[in-house]
Amino acid sequence: MPSGGPGRACPVSYRYGSAVFRAAAALHVDTLWVAGGLYGNPYAFEPLLELYEREPGSKALVFNGDFHWFDIDFSLFQKVQSSVEKFIALRGNVETELAAPAEGAGCGCGYPDWVDDGTVERSNRMLDRLRATALRLPGATRALAALPMHLVAEVAGVRVAVVHGDADSLAGWGFSQEALSLPPGVEAARRAFDDAGVRIFASSHTCLPVLQEVPGGGLIANNGAAGMPNFRGTHYGIATRISVRSSGGAIYSKGTEDLFVEAVKLEYDHAAWERCFLAQWPSGSDAHRSYYERIVHGPRYSADALAA
Ligand SMILES: [Fe+2]
Repeated sequence: MPSGGPGRACPVSYRYGSAVFRAAAALHVDTLWVAGGLYGNPYAFEPLLELYEREPGSKALVFNGDFHWFDIDFSLFQKVQSSVEKFIALRGNVETELAAPAEGAGCGCGYPDWVDDGTVERSNRMLDRLRATALRLPGATRALAALPMHLVAEVAGVRVAVVHGDADSLAGWGFSQEALSLPPGVEAARRAFDDAGVRIFASSHTCLPVLQEVPGGGLIANNGAAGMPNFRGTHYGIATRISVRSSGGAIYSKGTEDLFVEAVKLEYDHAAWERCFLAQWPSGSDAHRSYYERIVHGPRYSADALAA
């Protein structure tokens, strides 16, 4: 597949530019939960909602995209859709491509060069399967199309931009651990904070979590995946929690402006999720080939660097 083909390209309609975050905040809360990358895992809702419901004070829960992905089973898709609709949702590339596919976007992932062509091609076919399910649910694609791509929240007066990808684009990889491990990526992030006028970006999309300060005082909290393991040898998803209070149980955290910015474990029923996944995506299927190993063993990524 040529560079920039389906699954590689980032459609123009995905771009918003970091100046959009200068807008007035849509939310003012003491505690903000951000859960990106549920990927159609219905079992991840349970720990997430249990933790969220326990929060005192003013609060909001935002699903920042890719809440659908593996849920090609109609009843499961319906369940994920109705569960997310009870809260605030942004569309990720999955929902955007389900709702209004951009010409040549494929899965809309905007995959960078370090993701192999086989993975990209399988993701494009997965999106086609998922779209067939979405079209069976009346009103679903219209509801997904109507979701925003970003929002600004204030947590105790601190401005937080919530996105799916990065500061510029719905499917941008600027907040990936790969980009932020190199000086040009850090410099690009620093400029994005300047343009956006926010203190924190809460993102997802890149599948691996990041919690990184950038020069100038910005903090990037990428939750990785709420519905899949994020570290080798683990079976839990991660959500980002930003609050005036500590949860007391973060995997790792950083502080900024008297706020606690935490990565919180979502300990879902792994055995049930594995059965549910296999019922939809058996051995040899596209999702099985791309994701089963990660679902069972986790990605080759460690929390050690993040906990430092
Ligand atoms: Fe995504």
